[in-house]
Amino acid sequence: MNGLTQSPPTDRTASVFDSMSTLREPLRCRILLLLEGQELTVSELCAVLQMPQSSVSRHLKALDEGGWVVARREGTSRLYLANAAALSGPDRELWALVREQVLATTAVDQDRQRLASILAQRLSRSQEFFASAADRWSVVRSELFGQRFDLEGLVGLLDARWVVGDLGCGTGQTSSTLAPWVHRVIAVDESEAMLDTARSRLQAMLNVDLRRGRLEALPVGDGELDVAILMLVLHHVAEPRLAIGEAMRALKAGGRLLVVDMLSHQREEYRQQMGHLWLGFAETQIRGWFEELGLKAVRFHPVPADPDAAGPALFAASARQPLKKVLPVPEPEAIGA
Ligand SMILES: C[S@@+](CC[C@H](N)C(=O)[O-])C[C@H]1O[C@@H](n2cnc3c(N)ncnc32)[C@H](O)[C@@H]1O
Repeated sequence: MNGLTQSPPTDRTASVFDSMSTLREPLRCRILLLLEGQELTVSELCAVLQMPQSSVSRHLKALDEGGWVVARREGTSRLYLANAAALSGPDRELWALVREQVLATTAVDQDRQRLASILAQRLSRSQEFFASAADRWSVVRSELFGQRFDLEGLVGLLDARWVVGDLGCGTGQTSSTLAPWVHRVIAVDESEAMLDTARSRLQAMLNVDLRRGRLEALPVGDGELDVAILMLVLHHVAEPRLAIGEAMRALKAGGRLLVVDMLSHQREEYRQQMGHLWLGFAETQIRGWFEELGLKAVRFHPVPADPDAAGPALFAASARQPLKKVLPVPEPEAIGA
């Protein structure tokens, strides 16, 4: 004894000794190196390291307990990743030192080559799937995710600052799709019963403003809207030109109008059954009204038919208020009135 008393290890030194103990196994260091760049499963690690599962699992357990790796479950697999970002000062320094030594070994070179082929196999599994699934992917896609998910997702392209008018909102389906993505939805309908149902559907959406009113005299201020939507409603309106003109009044300069409705059809029974006033519209009618009223950038497209839909084919037509807003020209008879 030299007379000096040895002080007990501090927490910091104790933790470094634990870490040294974890990293004393070269195989653990090789595992850590492999897991630095990507997540791997136990069986992928076994293939790269050419070691039995029991050894790899035992070493992974030690690394996991020491906080050197993180794991997450993906279906029936468990994927591991190095937890380098979470290393504290001394552990970081220790790993930098050990890493440099391990990198210089030939085992690591070989690990890297085998890792490259394992990753290439992963890639080719997805490439093989797409090569063989090209002719059935559309079916697989809708079986897995349904027919409309892409359109629901594409709503995310809308400008978050927009105020959108859902004019003739009915029970509020369109408003509920739009509300999460825009600043405000002003939803207008003349039917109190429809508005009641819309109110229950939309109660959690605090940016939807439900207003009772008619399309021919909208309860919306001049230029209050960035976008006006007439979804499946124009065929109920005696004078569509008047309703389009009102939507234009409510739009800002440069604001956009969207009409979705039925193409011309022969289902006379809809007049009695649902009070339709127009049996759909021809492209020339819609373009004619838009252009007469001074709308710009008019576009008109048939909507691809939904295989489950029993109703007539639909179209979507869009146009824009001029950047310098013009008010719609009144009908000749309205001038004299
Ligand atoms: C066929 S529903 C369509 C509702 C909704 N846009 C949709 O896509 O489900 C037509 C709606 O327009 C409303 N409506 C019809 N004519 C209207 C008018 N002149 N003014 C205001 N709302 C009207 C009806 O009350 C009804 O709720």
